[in-house]
Amino acid sequence: MRFTILTLFPEFFQGPLTCAQMARAREAGIVDFALVNPRDFSTGRYCHVDDRPYGGGPGMVMQPEPLERALASVERPGRKIVLAPSGRQLTQSLARELAREEALTLVCGRYEGIDERLIEAEGLEAIGVGEAVLNGGEAAALCLVEAVARLLPGFMGKEESGEDESFSHGLLEHPHYTRPEEYLGRAVPEVLRGGSHAAIARWRREASLARTLARRPEMLREAPLDGADINFLRGLAHPAALGRGLFLCLLHHPVLDKAGKTATVSLTNLDIHDMCRVSRTYELGGAFFVTPLDDQRELGQRLLDHWTEGPGGQANPDRGQALRLGRMAASLDEVLERVAARTGRTPRLVATSARAGYRVRRGRKERMIAFTPPGVVRGWLEREPVVLVLGTGHGLAPEVLERSDAVLTPVRGFSRYNHLPVRAAAAILADRLLGDAG
Ligand SMILES: C[S@@+](CC[C@H](N)C(=O)[O-])C[C@H]1O[C@@H](n2cnc3c(N)ncnc32)[C@H](O)[C@@H]1O
Repeated sequence: MRFTILTLFPEFFQGPLTCAQMARAREAGIVDFALVNPRDFSTGRYCHVDDRPYGGGPGMVMQPEPLERALASVERPGRKIVLAPSGRQLTQSLARELAREEALTLVCGRYEGIDERLIEAEGLEAIGVGEAVLNGGEAAALCLVEAVARLLPGFMGKEESGEDESFSHGLLEHPHYTRPEEYLGRAVPEVLRGGSHAAIARWRREASLARTLARRPEMLREAPLDGADINFLRGLAHPAALGRGLFLCLLHHPVLDKAGKTATVSLTNLDIHDMCRVSRTYELGGAFFVTPLDDQRELGQRLLDHWTEGPGGQANPDRGQALRLGRMAASLDEVLERVAARTGRTPRLVATSARAGYRVRRGRKERMIAFTPPGVVRGWLEREPVVLVLGTGHGLAPEVLERSDAVLTPVRGFSRYNHLPVRAAAAILADRLLGDAG
């Protein structure tokens, strides 16, 4: 494969392209490289290739003409790529796709980046490496070159294989061990010292699954998993243990009505069923349904009893299992006290809101709501219980948002219709906090 790299710093590539496997692959004719410096195509007196950005702001922008001429000089450009942090992320499957090409041309940006018109006019495909900004595209181009080159036939020795590596099967790779058998009091897992190929293969698969769940749970959404994999993941303590510290709390007071006034709304049968089913599915600590109205609490309790102790539970035990997680309560304070008594820890109160740009009072000041992403709340769940409070009517009253420790990032459809049922929001939020979508 031919790699042409357009760079203002060709010397950057000296070491990496001339040592170890890359040097051998060049000698064997598996890869070859051409380095083109756009400065050689500048017509300016001082060979400059950059200028100040239109619209102002710091830094310089690479001008289109020297890059255009540099690109025109490439005889066999193949697929043309610009390295950019905003580009499509380099992944193993993208590397595999690129390894099928005969030639790749990589344009390395510097300064604030490249004039957008050059990128459009040349049809450059933007590819990024990680969610961090580098000084220039050179280090990113090297990552791409290595990821692609090692997939080319003959690049890796017979004893090495890209097949079992991280990302190859949509999972992270299992850990590796070598001699000594014991190191700093840590022994190599026994199964790897035994001779059963089947047991070793299963251990490696499970270690891969466990590592992926712990580090990159969103990858599990697309990884091909069989029944044994799913059973193994279900049996892992991690998400279930986290879930047991999470309590849903559906407030029927104080919530807002259509006119934005604080009100009390009635219980909804569907909310009770579905939020209990969500709690059972994600193995939560439970779901509280809060209303200050005695008759509404009695009604709710009758419903829960029907599906747990009564005829409903006998006819449909699965539903009974879910509704057993439901509790009626008179106030949010009562919920917080009951969760504290049950878990032995003061819970964090995490509110939810469907609205962006909401102002709340924090101490003496009024502020725009700052949303907290699910990853932060997941971190809390590792140490302490969390009560996730959801509102009925037109959402939680400001006093609830103001007393909460955090307001979770809302579920946003980016459409103009913002009326997701609260039980659907509860399911989505539980999945964001505990599901394998990360
Ligand atoms: C300092 S960066 C410019 C960053 C740009 N202002 C932005 O915020 O996206 C200069 C050049 O480095 C390259 N670069 C920086 N980080 C990168 C990354 N993570 N992946 C790919 N290229 C990157 C790009 O070619 C970029 O034009």
